[in-house]
Amino acid sequence: MVSREITKGVYWVGALDFDRRIFDELIPLPDGTSYNSYLVRGSTKTALIDTVDPAKEEDLILNLIRLGVDRIDYVVINHAEQDHSGSLPMILEMYPGAKVVTNEKCKDLLVSLLQIDAGSVTVIKDGETLSLGDRTLQFFLTPWTHWPETQVTYLQEDKILFPCDLFGYHVASSDLYVTDEADAYRSAKRYYAEIMMPFRNSIRGYIEKVRALPLEMIAPSHGPIHRNPKFILDAYAEWVSDDVKNEVVIPYVSMHGSTKKMVEHLTAALIERGIRVKPFNLTHTDIGELALSLVDAATVVVGTPTVLFGPHPQVVYATYLANVLKPKVRFATVIGSYGWGGKSAETIVKMLDHVRVEVLEPVVIKGAPDEAAMVALDRLADEILKKHKESNIV
Ligand code: FEO
Repeated sequence: MVSREITKGVYWVGALDFDRRIFDELIPLPDGTSYNSYLVRGSTKTALIDTVDPAKEEDLILNLIRLGVDRIDYVVINHAEQDHSGSLPMILEMYPGAKVVTNEKCKDLLVSLLQIDAGSVTVIKDGETLSLGDRTLQFFLTPWTHWPETQVTYLQEDKILFPCDLFGYHVASSDLYVTDEADAYRSAKRYYAEIMMPFRNSIRGYIEKVRALPLEMIAPSHGPIHRNPKFILDAYAEWVSDDVKNEVVIPYVSMHGSTKKMVEHLTAALIERGIRVKPFNLTHTDIGELALSLVDAATVVVGTPTVLFGPHPQVVYATYLANVLKPKVRFATVIGSYGWGGKSAETIVKMLDHVRVEVLEPVVIKGAPDEAAMVALDRLADEILKKHKESNIV
């Protein structure tokens, strides 16, 4: 992929990774991803903002060579995770005079993760500026927009924000800019769910700070550039708010069909009551889609059979993930079937210690669901509707 000019003297010099299918060995990437690196030429100094994943460092090198970049004065690192910082050692080798510019926490991580020379790093503080001659970079610390060391960089004269992970999304696209906002909304929401949701309280404050800046573009380090910053800022404002929707998410596993019958009955009962339902059979669910559904659902019902003494391991995995993603879900419960005993419901409820939910009465039955079980599920559907109504969600 060749470099592209965003505005005079500012270039995208990153890499598209069409083939990558998993990130952090955890997050599925159905559409691949990109590692966006940007070159900013000032009248006296040149800065590179973030690098690319080491697997794609050749793309970055070729882009810089094609542009005839024979000197880089500063390499701004907004985030130490290797998909953005991993080619830094190569850049420092190629441009030995370059200074790394980042905050103190990020410096510590770069030194420990990439073993770069601490002496090559210039540490900046929140709000500090760096002159490139006729252009000025300004840095704002935004901890926990993935890791604790994250920051964003603002190019004052051109009104471009480079927020690294924040406001991006995973896609390898030949489009330099967002062209289809409906498409972008879904992809960015999924990315928010997978990466940013645990930090929504901090992000809420950052959105207001970003809104206060004059902005022409938001150029993240994954996915296309936003030429309509309001679109992505409004979307984030919606996702980080405390508002939930009249939706129930049901992640489940069924070994011999009993839990599945219960899920199907509850799904129908909720639909009858005007509630949107999203069941996810965890044996073949894309975990990113499950995360996406948790962004604004009011209620989660976990469906699990009992394996030996507790919940099915795939349910444990999904519950662990849902818990650490800290969705703003308000109500939760468990349904399922057991053969001879066990404590599936108690185990699942204990795992939900990061989400502040009201736990509704679980429906856990012995064997195949009978008429009494279906009545209990109808009662649960009534209870969910009542809770949603009391919370003004319906
Ligand atoms: Fe795209 Fe947290 O790295």
